[in-house]
Amino acid sequence: MDVKKLIILGSGTMGHGIAQAAIFGGFDVCLYDIAQNFLDKAKDKIKGSIEKHFVAKGKITKEEGDAIFARLKTYTNLEEAAKDADFVIEAVPEDLALKKKIFAELDKICPVHTILATNTSVLPVTAIAGATGRQDKVVGTHFFNPAAVMKLVEVVLPIGVAEETVETAFAVAKKMGKVPVKVKDTPGFIVNRLLGPLYMEAAQMVLEGTATAEDIDTAMRLGAGHPMGPCELADFGGFDVIQMAQDAVFDYTHSEASKLNILYRKMLEAGRLGRKNGKGFYDYLPDGTKKPFKLF
Ligand code: CAA
Repeated sequence: MDVKKLIILGSGTMGHGIAQAAIFGGFDVCLYDIAQNFLDKAKDKIKGSIEKHFVAKGKITKEEGDAIFARLKTYTNLEEAAKDADFVIEAVPEDLALKKKIFAELDKICPVHTILATNTSVLPVTAIAGATGRQDKVVGTHFFNPAAVMKLVEVVLPIGVAEETVETAFAVAKKMGKVPVKVKDTPGFIVNRLLGPLYMEAAQMVLEGTATAEDIDTAMRLGAGHPMGPCELADFGGFDVIQMAQDAVFDYTHSEASKLNILYRKMLEAGRLGRKNGKGFYDYLPDGTKKPFKLF
């Protein structure tokens, strides 16, 4: 299917990053959210990013940047945004009841040919598809944070998905400059299932006092070539999201390596969510620097 009209639902971290990748890929994008102030913030971030990462670096001209930005339209009315969509990418908060409600609504609003994709990283795509009467046209498109930069899209296959839906999701991802891979709908998909044990072991080493979070991060950056060490990456993802993902993966695999380490539970009990509230393995300071958090 030739996707002309692309809708993105949710203008948070993932939604606006996906929207940025999509306008750079040449799509005309309708970005939907429940309130105009969320959309205004997302537009400011995208505009700022075009300026900082592309125009200021001489990668594109200001006129080219303006033309790319002009491909983005915003909506607070779902029906208006989605009524003639070809492809919808949902990136609203990770709440299964909310996602099911939105997919049931989209199923009523959208034309019969519309493909409905979810960006969930922790919820079962099959359950989201089950809220619609078009299970063959529902798929997962899992982008990575920061979505404007990270090249991978996991195309997640719920049971009953049609081959044409998967092919179209691949084509959309490629047009955005991404590299898609296929994975069946199982908890953690590929990347989070593999990252989980790394996050768990890093936390265990911090708890045991084997090494500090800072030294573990330095070691994995310089010794294993990871762009971010496991503690800073866990902070980046957020402990609440990690808890949801690990609980789902452990429930499925029963692998000890995936069982949520108690340190994440304790961090959450202490109100430490990671970078999103400035408190994780590190304290993130207003001047943009960070310092290691002393556990005991
Ligand atoms: N838009 C466009 N380009 C951007 C950008 C943006 N918003 N932000 C950064 N860039 C570009 C920069 O301009 C720079 O480009 P050049 O090399 O051409 O100059 C490049 O990206 C690198 O940026 P920086 O120099 O500012 O910073 P960095 O080198 O420290 O890289 C990073 C930052 C890309 C985030 C890097 O640290 C990284 O890859 N980290 C790992 C992130 C990761 O693993 N994410 C996955 C997490 S798991 C997940 O997401 C799962 C889930 O379920 C949500």
